[in-house]
Formats: sequence, structure tokens, C-alpha cells
Amino acid sequence: MNHFLRTASMSAITIQQHILSEQQRFPGASGEFSFLLSGITLATKKIQAQVRRAGLTQILGSAGNENVQGETQQKLDVYANEAMIDSLAMRGSVGVLASEEDEHAIVCPNEEGDAKYAVVFDPLDGSSNIDVNVSVGTTFSIFRRPDDACLSDPDRWVLQPGNRQIAAGYVVYGSSTVMVYTCGNGVHGFTLDPNVGAFILSHEHMTMPRQGSYYSVNEAYSNDFPSHFGDYIQHVRNGKLGRSYSSRYIGSLVADFHRTLLRGGIFMYPPTQTHPEGKLRLLYEANPIAMIAEQAGGIATDGSRRILDLQPNAIHQRTPLVVGSEVEMREFESNFCPANSG
Ligand code: AHG
Ligand code: MN
Ligand code: MN
Repeated sequence: MNHFLRTASMSAITIQQHILSEQQRFPGASGEFSFLLSGITLATKKIQAQVRRAGLTQILGSAGNENVQGETQQKLDVYANEAMIDSLAMRGSVGVLASEEDEHAIVCPNEEGDAKYAVVFDPLDGSSNIDVNVSVGTTFSIFRRPDDACLSDPDRWVLQPGNRQIAAGYVVYGSSTVMVYTCGNGVHGFTLDPNVGAFILSHEHMTMPRQGSYYSVNEAYSNDFPSHFGDYIQHVRNGKLGRSYSSRYIGSLVADFHRTLLRGGIFMYPPTQTHPEGKLRLLYEANPIAMIAEQAGGIATDGSRRILDLQPNAIHQRTPLVVGSEVEMREFESNFCPANSG
């Protein structure tokens, strides 16, 4: 074929090719890291296949039990959790897994004892949206085994601050299925081409706009928020950031953040009476989102402290989350955050 007539898809870069090139940044990784990431892409392809057919295959609705969070598990939560565990536990290089759906860390079978990585994930984010056909997602965060950690103490592998993540990302199952990940060298997005079953590079070196025009918060809890959050939202509504804003809130963190990454703006899940520590989980929701945000030029805090610097003490520890573009975040930090604004 005349090579000038090659179609775009033939010069497409798959996520496997991209990961291999990223792999060069991890001396000694010898392909294990890319093999690990391909386990995640495999699992998310299996999950998306179920998400796309949810109404047809009786996978909607509740699985009839509660997870460690005390939340009713949806059937798709259970399926997605099993898909992630099955795809990662036998990858050799993975020693420990931690999932939103499992109370304790999972030690992977590893005869050689040479496992190097731990993976933390929310297999299905936005479960309340499954039955109403609204975007849901999967998040993941990858740590290197701490030097003095052994498999008999699996928590040590995962209770690391987010600034120790060696990679993080998410998949959003929306109008298309998009995987966004970073290995600390910028943020890259891949769209699943259902015709070939491959994630194809579609957003290279993603950067968050310096300012957006959306704020994203569950306003039903406004009366619960600490007052400075409400004051800030009113400030934004009153056009004090130099432009008018729209409100967008999907109720799936991955989808709300993906919009923020692409269009800018600010997402907030403040402390509420029901969740005085915040609702979102530090390890497998806030941390991967925060690494992506910072790698794309955004900012992520718990309302005052950098998310990536928080030392977790428990796998399912919750945190408030404020994440978004530089302009909105600096305004909040400088003039509304009690810790900074005096
Ligand atoms: P999950 O479905 O994994 O439990 O996560 C749901 C989270 C997050 O995705 C979303 O931002 C938040 O819950 C929405 O909470 P509210 O319904 O309280 O706004
Ligand atoms: Mn979640
Ligand atoms: Mn979940």
C-alpha cells in the first residue's frame, strides 16, 4: 500500500506501546511494570464490556450485600473487583492489592518473594450511577514495595503517601471508554477502539486549563459544609473570578474529574455531617486523581494540605477533596482556606 495513504489508525499508538516507552524511565523494571499496567488495561476492557451491556446481562442492581464501607455493593462493583484482582494477582511482580471492595489488603501468591509493586484501586467508581446509565469509572494507584516491607505486613506496601505513587490513573466508561494515566512524565489519554479492542493514544500530554468555567460540588449538602466552602462557592457564583461559571455535578468522581481535567474549573467534596472526614477515600480516589491533576498542572488538596503529602493510616481512610485549575485553587487557598487566609 502507498504509505502516504496509510489511515490514521495504522499509525496509532496503543497504550502498550506507550507504556513500553514509559517503561524506560524505570531502570531495572525489565518489562514487569509494563506487564503490570497491561493487567489493568485487560481488567478495564472486561469491565467496560459489562458496563456497555449492563441492561442486557442482568448485571445491574444490587449484589445483595454490603462492602466494607457499609455501602450496598452493586453487581458491577463485585464483577469489576474480581476482574481487577484476577488480572493483577498473578502478575508476578505484584505483591499486594488493596481495593475499595475488600476490607483488608490482599497478598498475592508469589513464590519467588520478588514482588516489587502494590496496586490500590476502586474497581467501580460512581456505583450509584450504574442503573441510570450515567458514566462510571475505575481508579488505580501503583506503589513500589517499601524497602523494609515483607508480605507478612501487607499494609506497609499500601499505606504510603501519594507522593510515592510511581503511576496512577483512571478509566472513565462514558460516551467512549478513556484511560488516563501518568508515570510521572505527564498525563496521557487513550480511547478504547471497540473495533480492535485496543486503547489508542488520543490525548497526549494532557494539561488542565489555568482557569475553567465550571464548579462541581453536591450542593444538597451546602448547609453542612464548613462556612468557607459555601463562601467560596458564592464568590465564584458572583463572578469574582472574572467570568461566569456553570455548575456540573455527575456524582461519579472519575467523570467529574475528567471534565475538570479537560475543561478546567474546580471539584469539591468538603466535609459534611455524614462524613466529617470527607467521603472520598484517600488511597484509591483522592491520590490517583491528585497525581493526575498535578502532573497536568492542576492542584489537589484536602481543603488546606496537599493530598499527595497526606500519610494514610488506614486503607479506607477518607479525606475531603478540592481539586482543579490553578486560578480557582489559588483563589480558594489564598482567600478562603482558614489555614492560609488567617
Ligand atoms: P463509589 O461509587 O466508588 O463508592 O464512589 C462514589 C463517590 C464518588 O464517585 C463521587 O464523587 C461521590 O461518591 C458522590 O457522592 P455523593 O453522592 O454523596 O455526592
Ligand atoms: Mn469511588
Ligand atoms: Mn467504588
